[in-house]
Amino acid sequence: MSSQDVHTLGIVMNGVTGRMGLNQHLRRSIQAIISQGGINCPSGTIMPKPILVGRNAAKVEAISNECGGLPWTTDLDAALSDPAYSIYFDAQTTDRRAACVGKAILAGKHIFCEKPVADTLSAALDLYRHAEGAGVKHGVVQDKLWLPGMLKLKILRDSGFFGTILSVRGEFGYWVFEGDRIPAQRPSWNYRKEQGGGIIFDMLCHWRYLLDDLFGNVKAVSCIGATHIPQRWDEWGKPYSATADDSAYATFQLENGIIAHFNSSWCVRVRRDDLLTIQVDGTQGSAVAGLRHCWIQPYGATPRPVWNPDIDNPLDFYQGWQKMPEQMPFENAFKRQWELFLLHVIANEPFPWTLLAGAKGVQLAEKGIESWQKRAWVAIDPLDGVSR
Ligand SMILES: NC(=O)c1ccc[n+]([C@@H]2O[C@H](COP(=O)([O-])OP(=O)(O)OC[C@H]3O[C@@H](n4cnc5c(N)ncnc54)[C@H](O)[C@@H]3O)[C@@H](O)[C@H]2O)c1
Repeated sequence: MSSQDVHTLGIVMNGVTGRMGLNQHLRRSIQAIISQGGINCPSGTIMPKPILVGRNAAKVEAISNECGGLPWTTDLDAALSDPAYSIYFDAQTTDRRAACVGKAILAGKHIFCEKPVADTLSAALDLYRHAEGAGVKHGVVQDKLWLPGMLKLKILRDSGFFGTILSVRGEFGYWVFEGDRIPAQRPSWNYRKEQGGGIIFDMLCHWRYLLDDLFGNVKAVSCIGATHIPQRWDEWGKPYSATADDSAYATFQLENGIIAHFNSSWCVRVRRDDLLTIQVDGTQGSAVAGLRHCWIQPYGATPRPVWNPDIDNPLDFYQGWQKMPEQMPFENAFKRQWELFLLHVIANEPFPWTLLAGAKGVQLAEKGIESWQKRAWVAIDPLDGVSR
């Protein structure tokens, strides 16, 4: 094989008319990789070759035209039976994922898909076992791991900045408009349980891999959900009843003793640095990371507040934090994971963010809901030993 070889990788991309499929996966990942001339690997260059799949021919054709005339079809089965495509990617609504991913595994495709991988843990584990049995490679989107803010937290952790980490608190959310006076900025299925909606399922998948990867394995969850806004208006201006949770207040115990608490809400107004902020407090220092930036306060710069509600506090608490400088460039988080997955397929590079890792996210979401229903702490059984 010459070092100049081009490895063309056909990718069936399903769900590219959706928010995530179009913006993050097609435009900012696959098209961006094509535009930069592919990905270098030890034996040459990897060049993705997508075919776009969707229900609405006019919409898919318009996207194809925007992307320079990419092949497209409304026939998923035909695309799956075409040997020119060796990878199946899925960013459809969550309730449709398991069936289509299962079909793609049967067709011998490698799998890369959005989270949640399925709507139950048992369906997610079935997909993992089928993929392992079929000998295909597999991965699940865990984009937050490559956000600049989270990578900065990792650098701080690895350099011992925190000392012993005590606790992690996450604040995620913003006001999602109901859709009557001001258009909603998220799809209506997010608020319908029967269509795979609900913030617990959506967000606890993310919190699982962030916690496991950055701070330690999650061993127990206590969660309460709520549907704070019971009525919303859909894409066609029709009122509907919200049947899914739109807020979740969850506490997690990690194996190493760290306590984490994440509030996730589509019914909260933002007065913090970003739509997601994660504060880490350690014996030697603390940090607050947003999506892109991170602020730090070491022990020696920690103010000494004294409680006195009768006067204005003399300390400006925001002044006591230092913004981390940009020490290196960061790529789009989704693109970075795509590149690693394509390198895994062609060059066998390690890729731990598999269907099993995706199943762990579904497990935490499922256990979070169980905790809410039982009003109790629920243990998270390790999945690493599950049979393939
Ligand atoms: N990684 C992340 O940060 C992140 C963020 C948001 C959403 N997501 C996940 O991405 C997935 C898509 O979310 P979205 O916000 O892009 O949703 P969306 O509603 O914008 O897009 C859904 C896609 O599924 C397709 N679809 C829906 N019903 C269908 C049907 N009956 N037949 C065929 N296709 C159908 C739509 O045409 C569209 O292409 C969800 O699983 C969601 O959990 C991930």
